[in-house]
Amino acid sequence: MNDYLRQLGNSSLKVSSVALGCWPIAGISSLDVNDQDSLRTIAAALDCGINFFDTAYSYGFSGQADLLLAKALKGRSSETIVASKVGSHYDPQGQRVIDGRPETLIRHAKESLDRLNRDRLEVLYLHTPDPQVPLEESADAIAELISSGVVLYAGVSNVNLQQLQLFHSRCPVTVVQPYFNMLQREVAAELGEYCESENISIACYWVLMKGLLAGRMQRDHQLDPADRRLTYAVYRGEAWQRAQDLLDELRSISKDLNCTVAQLVVAWTIAQPGITVALCGAKRPEQITETAAAMNLELSIDLLERINRLVDLQSAP
Ligand SMILES: NC(=O)c1ccc[n+]([C@@H]2O[C@H](COP(=O)([O-])OP(=O)(O)OC[C@H]3O[C@@H](n4cnc5c(N)ncnc54)[C@H](OP(=O)(O)O)[C@@H]3O)[C@@H](O)[C@H]2O)c1
Repeated sequence: MNDYLRQLGNSSLKVSSVALGCWPIAGISSLDVNDQDSLRTIAAALDCGINFFDTAYSYGFSGQADLLLAKALKGRSSETIVASKVGSHYDPQGQRVIDGRPETLIRHAKESLDRLNRDRLEVLYLHTPDPQVPLEESADAIAELISSGVVLYAGVSNVNLQQLQLFHSRCPVTVVQPYFNMLQREVAAELGEYCESENISIACYWVLMKGLLAGRMQRDHQLDPADRRLTYAVYRGEAWQRAQDLLDELRSISKDLNCTVAQLVVAWTIAQPGITVALCGAKRPEQITETAAAMNLELSIDLLERINRLVDLQSAP
């Protein structure tokens, strides 16, 4: 594997460039999720050399992703790195609540640690800024969790540049988590220069745009009406057609390279300047086995440039 363990920001952590994203196994928005497949998915990730797992207090109405991780990683905590997030949870009615108050962040971090059955959280992100709570207060709470040894390193997710700078001034950030994929590059682009200057890693989510960029859904694919992916613009209308135009090109390139479209997309992602980690969600072992293999796929500079041109064309007005 080439360059597959990477240093996370200014920390001493060495993480795999593909991490297992644990949102699908939370079973909230993904269809047909069951514990047996989820445990097999985590085991498959370990078998593929993944040592980095991305969860959150809100991944499950009652912490399902954390509990599954605890079970599957039992006895392997010294060789694995878990990143969690606080600042978002579900109320008893199943409604998502954003709550960045320090007392909530601290309580939820400790609950997560108990669920995960670990001595400490290697990384804890603020999941998203709470518009009702000054960001400084949320940052100070994460800094306090680091001082007290509950957490090793801080992260922050879903922030713009100004928010990242403010957070970092109160609580040094090791890793930032924006969305980033071939169809949506703007947020990571906004943060990139600052992250490079401050040695902050970018761990990006929606690398496969929730499965679309795995390329298996053909142009005429009909999603189940209950599938929440229909709420994303790129799964409908003109945006869907443009994504399929790009996918047609990627299907052809991946055929020549004898890899899958998902592997090509993930390999392109982890080759992007400033991107340290691609968070790849999966609910079945074969999905993460497929995406993790991108860590073995080196793309030539010429090919990266060719793909960049196709991606630019897709996003041209
Ligand atoms: N910080 C945040 O606010 C935030 C937000 C979103 C996500 N995240 C993190 O980032 C991770 C990744 O995001 P995500 O899971 O939402 O989306 P994603 O990685 O873009 O897509 C995951 C979905 O793609 C499909 N898939 C995965 N591998 C595949 C393969 N090899 N072939 C075909 N389909 C495949 C599966 O869906 P189907 O099987 O259902 O088709 C899977 O559930 C999350 O799990 C989470 O850890 C963080």
